[in-house]
Amino acid sequence: MGLNIHTNHRMLFFIPAISYLVLVYLCAVWPAMVEMEAMEAVPKPFEDELPAIGRKLYGSYNCVTCHTQQIRGDERKATDVDGVRTTPVLTADARFGRELATRAEEYAWQDPVFMGTQRTGPDLSSTGRRLPAVQWHYWHLYNPQAVSPGSLMPPHRFLFTTTPPPPDEEFDYEEVLVIEGLGVKSDRLWATPDAKALVEYLLSLKREHLEQGRLAK
Ligand code: HEC
Repeated sequence: MGLNIHTNHRMLFFIPAISYLVLVYLCAVWPAMVEMEAMEAVPKPFEDELPAIGRKLYGSYNCVTCHTQQIRGDERKATDVDGVRTTPVLTADARFGRELATRAEEYAWQDPVFMGTQRTGPDLSSTGRRLPAVQWHYWHLYNPQAVSPGSLMPPHRFLFTTTPPPPDEEFDYEEVLVIEGLGVKSDRLWATPDAKALVEYLLSLKREHLEQGRLAK
């Protein structure tokens, strides 16, 4: 009688409480530990503060509404090469010129993840390798059509200033080479600290740590 859950108050309390704790461990704590372990096995994409600030700006300017950072793989054609599962790029994504589909590890340190779903613009997962010139990114952000005729990308002129930065802050700004067609109504233009950080982030997108020795491009 004493072990009847309907009449024994201790059992009535302890059985659900222990079941609850076991379930919390199995469904939340354990998977989180496995994930943390997997994440720590992947090197951080960047240690510096500037690209980290740029990443936050990328999120707040909603670049993700037009750009993805995911190269889809064709699972049906996946094979094991030297013990590594290799998934060829889906034909629809091959136009971005990447030979490897995105792997789960690439999102390891991303919080939030900027996978994206819309592709009004090209995929940016290895923009830093494709477009390594800082000035190009400044021109492009200031006036996308100046370097990419017919571009639909909105200009981000608020990231630039034609007012010379105060001498004690000069280091935080970077002068932009004013090229023809940029549409600046001044001889000189400076990238603000936010523009610098955003471009540092774009340049950090290389997928290098995952592709070392596996990719020529
Ligand atoms: C309304 C959609 C839209 C938004 C929002 C947008 N872009 Fe774009 N982006 C495009 C389009 C379209 C292109 C392709 C034409 C071009 O190069 O400008 C592009 C091209 C690019 C490229 C060149 C990529 C390549 O491989 O050629 C970069 C880098 C880029 N965008 C960064 C950004 C960043 C950073 C933001 C946020 C501050 C942003 N974009 C917001 C539409 C958008």
